[in-house]
Amino acid sequence: MTEWNRASPELTLDARFHEAPHDTFAELRAEGGLHRFLAGGRQQSWLVVNYDDIRRLLRDHRLSKDPETLIAANRRQLGIGDDPEAQASEQVMRTFGEHLRGLLSTELGTTHATSLEGSARRHAERFLDRFAAGDDDDLLRGFALPYASAMCCELLGIAEDRQNEVAGHVRDMVLGGSRAANRALIGVLADTIVRLRSAPGADLLSALLARAREDSRLSDTTLLHSGLILITLAVETTFSFITTSVHTLLRHPESLAAIRRDPSLLDGAVEELLRYNGPHNISAVRATTAPVRVADTEIPEGQLVSFALTSGNRDPRQFTDPDRFDPTRDASAHLAFGHGKYRCLGAGLARLESKIAIGTLLRRYPQLRIGCRPEELDWAQNPYLHSLRRLPVKLGARASD
Ligand code: HEM
Repeated sequence: MTEWNRASPELTLDARFHEAPHDTFAELRAEGGLHRFLAGGRQQSWLVVNYDDIRRLLRDHRLSKDPETLIAANRRQLGIGDDPEAQASEQVMRTFGEHLRGLLSTELGTTHATSLEGSARRHAERFLDRFAAGDDDDLLRGFALPYASAMCCELLGIAEDRQNEVAGHVRDMVLGGSRAANRALIGVLADTIVRLRSAPGADLLSALLARAREDSRLSDTTLLHSGLILITLAVETTFSFITTSVHTLLRHPESLAAIRRDPSLLDGAVEELLRYNGPHNISAVRATTAPVRVADTEIPEGQLVSFALTSGNRDPRQFTDPDRFDPTRDASAHLAFGHGKYRCLGAGLARLESKIAIGTLLRRYPQLRIGCRPEELDWAQNPYLHSLRRLPVKLGARASD
């Protein structure tokens, strides 16, 4: 792997990176467009950091997310053999090929997102009532997490009386790395599939079950994996984004005051929040199916490549004065949902959920403020997601509606 060794230095994931990834990415962009990234101390991938390269390569068919191509590249690199954990994760990866992607893209279209607007409003009010009445001042655990989890349950068709249980499992899985929670979620999904098979609803799993009657590729295992993949992709990103966004807004009181005066600014503000502090630092990996040139390096076939989305979103060649938060700018070309064939399939729903959660919180609590000093903020040690582990807030008095 000569080319790997010749590339510029490796991305270093120290405490400073987790707190301020934008500073690290600015340094990397100044050094060059292509870097090395060692994920989990094991997986080597190339890391593309410039906006133009990221956008171009995310549309390039030689960079594939096809499960078999990725599994082969991973195995070659890590020497993964028959260890049961690797095999289980490969089994889940195999589920998410072109076929399922196509079905999810249809089912997660805007119609589905719009139909969940009423649920989003109801859950936002309900979880804020509960948060305001409780003792915990952490907006993430008290509001953003259960809200995003309940919305994913609504999408999938998980019964309302199991939504608290799901939020607990998601919390333990995402914030505590619990494997038992992961297994428990599979149990809830299995029960849900049995229930929806005899009493279908207007939800995503019911829609997939209906298709499964004529499509033998949609086995029960595939449906279970699809539910788990969606929970994994949808909930943590959304609650992280809501929490980080509230933090960003509270740190920019003039912008916040402008949005409070004119709530119609929130639509544009959410795009700028996605650009300024979107949750995905780094995309999922792709594997090259042919040599691909980035700057002066040729990446050979069969290698893994990731994209620093957060870096592209702060690239000054694309966004003027990129480190300034400006909710009035046109930020719509941001990369927070990825780009091209594998872009986020839930972007419509994510936008809707975030707008309703943030809008309801701001409307109800005009005196909302951060409840800790900046140095007490705790950022997740996760290279992929830029996310607070908690956000203490003081709600203040509730506005009369
Ligand atoms: C603010 C919240 C969210 C953000 C910022 C976000 C961002 C992203 C990004 C960047 C990707 C592409 C990763 C890559 O290129 O490797 C992605 C993929 C995906 N997202 Fe989201 N997402 C969010 C919420 C959601 C929600 C709510 C859902 C489901 C309802 C969802 C479903 C998906 C799916 C299915 C994919 C896989 C696409 C594929 O591989 O073809 N996301 N998301």
